[in-house]
Amino acid sequence: MKILEPSSKKLYVDATFGQGGYTKEIFKNCYNCKIIAIDRDPNSKKYIKQYQSSYKTKFFFFNKRFSQLRKIINKFGEKIDGIVFDLGLSNTQLDDPSRGFSFNSNGPLDMRMGNQNDSKITAEKIINEFNEKDLSDIFFKFGEEKKSFKIARAIISERKKNKITSTLQLSEIINSLGLKKNYKINSATRSFQALRIFINEELNELQDTLKCIPSILNKDGKIVVVSFHSLEDRIVKNFFKENSGIFYNNYRNNPPNITHKTQTLSIITKKPLLPKFSEIKRNPRSRSAKLRAAKKI
Ligand SMILES: C[S@@+](CC[C@H](N)C(=O)[O-])C[C@H]1O[C@@H](n2cnc3c(N)ncnc32)[C@H](O)[C@@H]1O
Repeated sequence: MKILEPSSKKLYVDATFGQGGYTKEIFKNCYNCKIIAIDRDPNSKKYIKQYQSSYKTKFFFFNKRFSQLRKIINKFGEKIDGIVFDLGLSNTQLDDPSRGFSFNSNGPLDMRMGNQNDSKITAEKIINEFNEKDLSDIFFKFGEEKKSFKIARAIISERKKNKITSTLQLSEIINSLGLKKNYKINSATRSFQALRIFINEELNELQDTLKCIPSILNKDGKIVVVSFHSLEDRIVKNFFKENSGIFYNNYRNNPPNITHKTQTLSIITKKPLLPKFSEIKRNPRSRSAKLRAAKKI
């Protein structure tokens, strides 16, 4: 909120409404602003009633993907003064076994953030039907899993005997491989993350949506993004750099290239903001959060 500085009569977007934590804070800071809230998960509708009744003409909810942002904004006929993204899964999604996101509790292999029209493919279909190479590519590309081949091979071998239909079946297959354990994370973490990102097209969603941000922000309008893994953070970091006029390519010793792209953003957070130790203690899931912000110039 310190970065966003919500103020009266302005228009903000909470692109990942969830249970409305960010919306609540924005309204707390300025009763008189307007908020467009978006979430692809229809379960979010349970949490909008209180805002619809308290802020009748100031709160607008869309059960859509945030990549529909430009279309949504066009309906309002005005530019926005700030947008926040709190990426990934909400605690409710993660903690509900029926959604199939967690390797700690048993549930169907689903992992769709939205409804059936939002994403057609489920984790069960991928795990039981994709070939070894495609499975391995998903684990490697979206989970940065070094043992992706080994995991894919074990899945193929298991599914010849039994259809794999539950989260615990899948995590047991991965855990039985005796992969070197990171003391902080379960061996199945990366593979579950990879499946979820693939099914929900999370990286494309982010990349496509960021592209339209400079053209929908008013001057001095802010974009604030909280991401939870390096693939997303890299997309945000590179987008900010490219649009602030400088693109550092990945080779450490090369000087920065000045791109010819017009400069549209000024970076507010030179380095990402990380949670303090006290916050991680209170909320362990915040440990991998990185906040980056920029301002339209
Ligand atoms: C980390 S949670 C946000 C929690 C929220 N800030 C709160 O206070 O409750 C992320 C939310 O973004 C939604 N989401 C993720 N990707 C999305 C996308 N591409 N379009 C729309 N909603 C998305 C998820 O369904 C989830 O509810």
